[in-house]
Amino acid sequence: MRGAAMRVLVGGGTGFVGTALTQLLRSRGHRVTHVSRRGGRNRISWEELSRSGLPVCDAVVNLAGQNVLNPLRRWSDSFCREIISSRVDTTRTLAKAIAAAEHPPRAWVLVTGVGYYRPSPIAEYTEESPGGNFDFFSRLVSSWEDAALIYGSPTRGVVVRSGVVLGRGGGAISQMIWPFRLGLGGPLGSGLQPFPWIHIRDLCGIVCHALEKENVRGILNGVSPTSSGTSNGAFARELAAALGRPALLPVPAWAVRAVFGEERAVMLLKGQKVLPKRTLESGYRFLFPELAAALRDIVA
Ligand SMILES: NC(=O)c1ccc[n+]([C@@H]2O[C@H](COP(=O)([O-])OP(=O)(O)OC[C@H]3O[C@@H](n4cnc5c(N)ncnc54)[C@H](OP(=O)(O)O)[C@@H]3O)[C@@H](O)[C@H]2O)c1
Repeated sequence: MRGAAMRVLVGGGTGFVGTALTQLLRSRGHRVTHVSRRGGRNRISWEELSRSGLPVCDAVVNLAGQNVLNPLRRWSDSFCREIISSRVDTTRTLAKAIAAAEHPPRAWVLVTGVGYYRPSPIAEYTEESPGGNFDFFSRLVSSWEDAALIYGSPTRGVVVRSGVVLGRGGGAISQMIWPFRLGLGGPLGSGLQPFPWIHIRDLCGIVCHALEKENVRGILNGVSPTSSGTSNGAFARELAAALGRPALLPVPAWAVRAVFGEERAVMLLKGQKVLPKRTLESGYRFLFPELAAALRDIVA
C-alpha cells in the first residue's frame, strides 16, 4: 500500500543509484530535491544546506560519494581523503541539518557498503554480524555510519549496506560490459571470491521501502538473497551468457593490483557472503533475487 506523498531530499541524487531512485520515488508520487555540488533545477548545494539548514522535507537520503573504482584515479592519500570526506562529511552535514531542523523529517536513510564485513570465502554475514574495524573500507563504513547517528532524534534512521549494484548505464556493469561484449571478459583473480550483488531496482526498492514503512529502522543489508552463493567466476559466466559471449579469459590478480593498487584491489579480488536477513524480515520482497534474470534484464 502506498503512503502519503513525501518531499524527499537526496544527497548525491544525481548519480547512478540516485537517478534510478529519483525515478522510482517520483513514480510513487513523491517530490524529490537533490543536494549536489552542481547547480540546477530541483537542486540545492551543500553550502546552502550548511548555511540555511534543512529545507522543509519529510525524508532525507544520502547517496553522495566519490567513485572508488575509477581506474583513472591513482590510489593516493589525497584520493583516500576525497573518498572519505565525500561520504562522511556529506552524511554529517545532513545529520546536523536534521538534528537542527524545526520540523524534523520522519525518515533518514543512508546507503553504505558491505565492505563493513571482513572478506571471507566461508563466513556468512547478517546485519547483526560484527565488522567495521579491520581495513580501509571497513573503517570507512564505520565512520560513515557513525556520522549519520543523531542522538535523541524523533527521525527514524535506516542504513542500507549495499553490495555491488548491477544496473544499466553505470556502476560495475558499465565498467565490465565492453570486454565481455568483445568476448574478452572473465573472472577476476581466482574467481572463487564471493560476489555480493544487488539489482539497482532492488536497492532503490529497499530505500523506498525504508522511507515509506514506519516500522523499518536500523541496518538492512542491500544484497540479493541468493548472492551469498554467487562467486566472481559464476558472475562472469552469467554475464557472458546473458550477452551470448564466452567468458574464458581470467584477469590475473597481479593485473587488477597493478591497475587499482593493493588496497583497492581487495574490493575486486576478495568478497563477502552477505544475507539480507533483516531486509526480508522487514517485509521487502526482491524483484530480482536470481542473478541470471537480473543480468538478462540489464543487458537486454
Ligand atoms: N554503485 C555501487 O555498486 C555501490 C555499492 C555499494 C555502495 N554504494 C554507495 O552508494 C552511493 C551511491 O552510489 P552511486 O554508484 O550512485 O555513486 P556515483 O554515481 O558514483 O556518485 C553519486 C553522487 O555522489 C556525488 N559525489 C561524487 N563525488 C563527490 C565528492 N567528491 N564530494 C561530494 N559529492 C560527490 C555526485 O553528485 P554531484 O555531482 O551532484 O555532487 C554523484 O552523482 C555511494 O555512496 C556509494 O559509495 C554504491
